[in-house]
Amino acid sequence: MRAIHNIVILTGAGLSAESGIATFRGPGGLWEGHRVEDVCTPEALAHDPELVHRFYDARRAKLDEVVPNPAHQALARLDAEWKGGLLIVTQNVDDLHERAGANRMLHMHGELKSALCAACGDSGEWEGSLPPESECPDCGSPALRPDIVFFGEMPYHMEVIERALADADLFVSIGTSGAVYPAAGFVQTARHHGAETLELNLDPSAGSSWFGETRLGPAGTLVPLWVEEMLAGQA
Ligand code: APR
Ligand code: ZN
Repeated sequence: MRAIHNIVILTGAGLSAESGIATFRGPGGLWEGHRVEDVCTPEALAHDPELVHRFYDARRAKLDEVVPNPAHQALARLDAEWKGGLLIVTQNVDDLHERAGANRMLHMHGELKSALCAACGDSGEWEGSLPPESECPDCGSPALRPDIVFFGEMPYHMEVIERALADADLFVSIGTSGAVYPAAGFVQTARHHGAETLELNLDPSAGSSWFGETRLGPAGTLVPLWVEEMLAGQA
């Protein structure tokens, strides 16, 4: 076993579940009777922009009602106190990691509080509802859309993430079902490069057998305990 210096943490919807944000594939995972795979696509945006914008407006509005939970807070503490390399890669489009104070983090699937111009490609902060055909503040095109990576689109920051995975001594996956690639494959990449692997989740994920260790339970309990362990073991 090698000493742990570089940590990569992947987080998913399960991390924010205890803050009151519904997961995608669990109970209550349907939205107005739609599967997430049917709403979060470029095709849905082209054919029914009202529906897609309404879905994200509802989720953006929800952010004002929720706060970070002990799992977000523990990860922010680890980020602040861990002396080695650390990268939190979140699939979540909420802003709870940053509101808890995490800095070394990336949103690979975009952010609710950001709008992307389909015409010029610029993106920027967005508050409140985002009706279809909203004008881009940069180029004036009526082409703003939620800055969210849809199914079939390329996730953000992949080069940085791949590099961090290659350098990781420990890869930890928290609160994700392992149903969506490429994130679901990060455990294999990290293992391939020799990292230890740990899963913290309520239920075993689709890729559970790839992990060296799995701890089952709610993130709000498991993550603070794991962070304590890591910081206690830090020289
Ligand atoms: N603590 C820990 N894990 C939990 C908790 C909790 N309190 N509650 C639920 N979970 C687990 C579930 O057991 C499940 O394995 O979190 C996981 C949530 O899975 P999904 O709903 O599939 O969410 P996620 O894996 O983040 O989805 C990936 O799919 O829809 C797309 O782009 C969207 O980023 C999202 C991606
Ligand atoms: Zn524009």
